[in-house]
Amino acid sequence: MASPAPRHHYRIERGTADDLDSVMIVMEAAFGDRFGEAWTRSQCSGILPMGGISLALARDPERLDVAGFALARTIADEAELLLLAVAPDHQRRGIGLQLLGDFMDRARAFGASKLHLEVRAGNPAIAMYRAAGFEPVGRRRNYYQGADGKRCDALTFALDLAEPD
Ligand SMILES: CC(C)(COP(=O)(O)OP(=O)(O)OC[C@H]1O[C@@H](n2cnc3c(N)ncnc32)[C@H](O)[C@@H]1OP(=O)(O)O)[C@@H](O)C(=O)NCCC(=O)NCCS
Repeated sequence: MASPAPRHHYRIERGTADDLDSVMIVMEAAFGDRFGEAWTRSQCSGILPMGGISLALARDPERLDVAGFALARTIADEAELLLLAVAPDHQRRGIGLQLLGDFMDRARAFGASKLHLEVRAGNPAIAMYRAAGFEPVGRRRNYYQGADGKRCDALTFALDLAEPD
């Protein structure tokens, strides 16, 4: 499966803990607190120094601010997309797809053969993941809890990179 082709070219670069302010602005704007999908700043800063963790940033080519980010973990031959978010005023320009493609390319380059991700049931992002070749493999009931206490299932998806294109 080839990585998805982006429609617009935002600059994809590696992020560090120094980029957490920008990441949290995108996180809060993209996820809000409706479904309980967002991570806190301390969850992000706690995971960043860990082995196998990588942060990718999509930068607006003109204004140079961070328009989106992806957080991923690679362990042995498996890679997991932990978070993917694009600021609302930059959505539907192909950035999500560009960050997903970057995750897949890097996972492949690091020798991963199996990719995983988890997403709230009903999230429009599912169309993007399916188009990239991810298949549903499981469901975690009532995994997310929104600010109003309402719970939603999480769906787990996987993609086998071992198959040739
Ligand atoms: C999901 C998200 C990252 C997509 O980012 P994006 O830059 O808007 O995505 P793209 O422009 O690359 O869209 C790629 C495809 O995904 C699908 N898609 C993305 N957003 C969609 C939406 N709101 N409704 C329906 N389909 C959508 C479409 O198939 C789209 O292709 P199209 O525009 O040609 O129809 C962004 O909407 C977001 O940050 N959402 C909130 C956070 C979140 O839920 N993250 C995912 C779970 S970790």
